[in-house]
Amino acid sequence: MDRSFSKFMVNIPADERSSAFSYPIVTGHDILSMFGSVASELHLPKRVAVITDPNVQNLYASHVQSSLLNFGFRPDTILIPSGEEHKTLDTVRNVYDKLHEAGFGRDAAIVAVGGGVVGDLAGFAAATYYRGVPFAQVPTTLLAQVDSSVGGKVGVNLPYGKNLIGAFYQPRFVFIDVKTLTTLAEREVRSGLAEIIKYGAILDKELFEMIADNIDALLKPDIKLFPEIIERCCSLKASVVEQDERESGYREVLNFGHTVGHAIEALTRYSVLTHGEAITYGMMVEAHMSVNHCGLPQEDARRLCSLLMRLSPPPLPEIIDDHQIYQTMFTDKKVRSGSLRLSLINAIGEGTFGETPDEHYIKQSIRKLFTKERDACGP
Ligand code: NAD
Ligand code: GLY
Repeated sequence: MDRSFSKFMVNIPADERSSAFSYPIVTGHDILSMFGSVASELHLPKRVAVITDPNVQNLYASHVQSSLLNFGFRPDTILIPSGEEHKTLDTVRNVYDKLHEAGFGRDAAIVAVGGGVVGDLAGFAAATYYRGVPFAQVPTTLLAQVDSSVGGKVGVNLPYGKNLIGAFYQPRFVFIDVKTLTTLAEREVRSGLAEIIKYGAILDKELFEMIADNIDALLKPDIKLFPEIIERCCSLKASVVEQDERESGYREVLNFGHTVGHAIEALTRYSVLTHGEAITYGMMVEAHMSVNHCGLPQEDARRLCSLLMRLSPPPLPEIIDDHQIYQTMFTDKKVRSGSLRLSLINAIGEGTFGETPDEHYIKQSIRKLFTKERDACGP
């Protein structure tokens, strides 16, 4: 087995809060046993809390822990429950208690091993425990490998709004073992594909075409296709974050589909649809808005929506309606002076941000979600 890995850097420029710094994204196949070596090279503190969930613990976190032991670290494992409904302040509070009980102080580090829920929550614990300890991300879902582990957004949900509590806190490194994807449930593969389609839609037409051409193999999934896609998405994300780490503007492009998607997640109490499924619907609605508001060619919208429908998101629960989605969109972090600001697309591969379509168009686009022709995306 080839255990070589590739590495590229995320370079965050200096701003008024900190000087310039960089961190590596290491990717490879079957490389978990090398984790301790990389952590050692990058001077991670020796006392480490490995935060993971029960699904990932025996599969992968135990290997990370063994590798840390082999390289002279002193790791403890902290388990959090799996699932978006547990990405809460209560869970963070339990993590703080366990860190305290195990005697972790400011000289400790946190390693998140799992999907985006573990990564976001463990990262937030790292950003806040003793005012901040170093952390590393070991993403084990497709979604986390292409998106959430990179860029330093960490945080938790509130009952009425998604990711409303959090910080920008960059990891010391990201360590991606593509082999972990072999145990991923089909539903989670599709959720990851939703974020990958987003990258194509907002930044990279060629990637979009590659996904469209290979969608059958990707859904299978043929994991041989993933390394190239993961590196491409990480590098797209890195280039956005390097230009606007703290989302004062441009980084908002990454939010295409998310204003509507996050509203759907909050309304369904984070327990019916995965994040990827919610943004699949979100991108359909926001593609429709993009036709009306940004002149997205209708043919592009149609192609995007048909590709999204290939991800077969489960039906929207009947308990939610278009009016509730519209109202809940106002908890979005991009809202300014009470006005919605959306991240839409002008064309496939050309994202835009800070768009405020007419209320009438927004409502019309959301309503479309509840009609038979929702995947048509036309005006
Ligand atoms: P998740 O973390 O809930 O993981 C999905 C499921 O897969 C969980 O049950 C987990 O236990 C299981 N799992 C993880 N790895 C596995 C593996 N290799 N084999 C088998 N099972 C495995 O979901 P997700 O899609 O990874 O992450 C979604 C979260 O990411 C959301 O909270 C979303 O808001 C967040 N997110 C954050 C950012 C960011 O920039 N910080 C970006 C995108 C999404
Ligand atoms: N996933 C959105 C961001 O990282 O900005």
